[in-house]
Amino acid sequence: MDVFKAAAVRTRTHGDVLSLAAGQPSTSAPAPVLRATREALETHLLGYTETLGILPLREAIAKHHALEAGVTVHADDVVVTTGSSGAFTLLFLAAFDIGDTVVMARPGYPAYRNTLAALGCRVVELDCAAESRFQPTVAMLDALPEPPKGLIIASPANPTGTIIDADELAAIARWCENNGTLLISDEIYHGISYGDVGTSSAWETSKESVVIGSVSKYFSMTGWRLGWMLLPSTLRRAVERLASNMTVCPPAISQLAAVAAFTAESRTELDGHVRRYARNRHIVLDGLTKAGVTDLAPADGAFYAYADIGHLTQDSRAWCENVLASTGVALAPGVDFDTVHGLETVRFSFAGTTEDVTEALVRLTPILS
Ligand SMILES: Cc1ncc(COP(=O)(O)O)c(C=O)c1O
Repeated sequence: MDVFKAAAVRTRTHGDVLSLAAGQPSTSAPAPVLRATREALETHLLGYTETLGILPLREAIAKHHALEAGVTVHADDVVVTTGSSGAFTLLFLAAFDIGDTVVMARPGYPAYRNTLAALGCRVVELDCAAESRFQPTVAMLDALPEPPKGLIIASPANPTGTIIDADELAAIARWCENNGTLLISDEIYHGISYGDVGTSSAWETSKESVVIGSVSKYFSMTGWRLGWMLLPSTLRRAVERLASNMTVCPPAISQLAAVAAFTAESRTELDGHVRRYARNRHIVLDGLTKAGVTDLAPADGAFYAYADIGHLTQDSRAWCENVLASTGVALAPGVDFDTVHGLETVRFSFAGTTEDVTEALVRLTPILS
């Protein structure tokens, strides 16, 4: 967010910012969602909804997962939340107590760590490197002194974009079931992958796990603040009671509109964005490699390239500030995602337009070479 702030200042003073920092699509919600929004504004009261989300949306989400993962998912399994961020807070409160150990990958999405810490949980980070595609493995879990209360995985991951392959994910899910560990599988980047390694869902192996979803990434709807969980029945009542106290319900207008995100027409539009991400990914990976930045995480999915730039700096934060000042290109320093090795890494987001990504690489090349 500090990068965003600095980029906003630079936009005011120079007007030349190209952002490869933002972890969000550069497009609006798909047309059917926009149409449904207009209709809802005209015809609905837009009062509170059911705490767990309106039934048509829960049904659409259940069907979406059933088709994607080939498993039976009922509307009752789905809890709609205020962004997946809202799901994490509810889930952590419902499932964990102060002092419980929760394990996650490093590098990883920083909000897991920060939210868990704010709730008094003990966060243990697994140092995940290139050998395991920056992802946790069963071998790492076996090496823990005792099974943790929870494990969070993200596939595709932020910041690396790497995907856990189907066999390893199934093995992790079985390990968690056998050891009494709640597996939380962040699948919010599903739908954005590039073919080399496909995504699979934790619910294909274990319905004792929690699957996290969101309209933010594939569906191109970050600001609508809608996410969801596929939740084991044991946690449902606690989550419902927490949610009804903390937020009452997710935004009504977003819920009504999001039903239309799961239609064939929306998918056609959204798949077009994924094809653009694929082109942008090629431009970024090619440009970085040619500029001598070759230590890159395999960008299997999401819209990120995560690079080791230890040959250029030992302070990624200051380096990103300098890059913004000298080129107008905003990047995310790795230190946000990895408090140990992140001073030598940086994340490039390629969710923007192809023109912007191409121009950004032109500006960056002299600095990277
Ligand atoms: C891995 C991951 N999980 C969760 C989120 C939160 O997304 P939202 O609250 O918009 O659903 C993000 C946002 O960038 C993310 O990268």
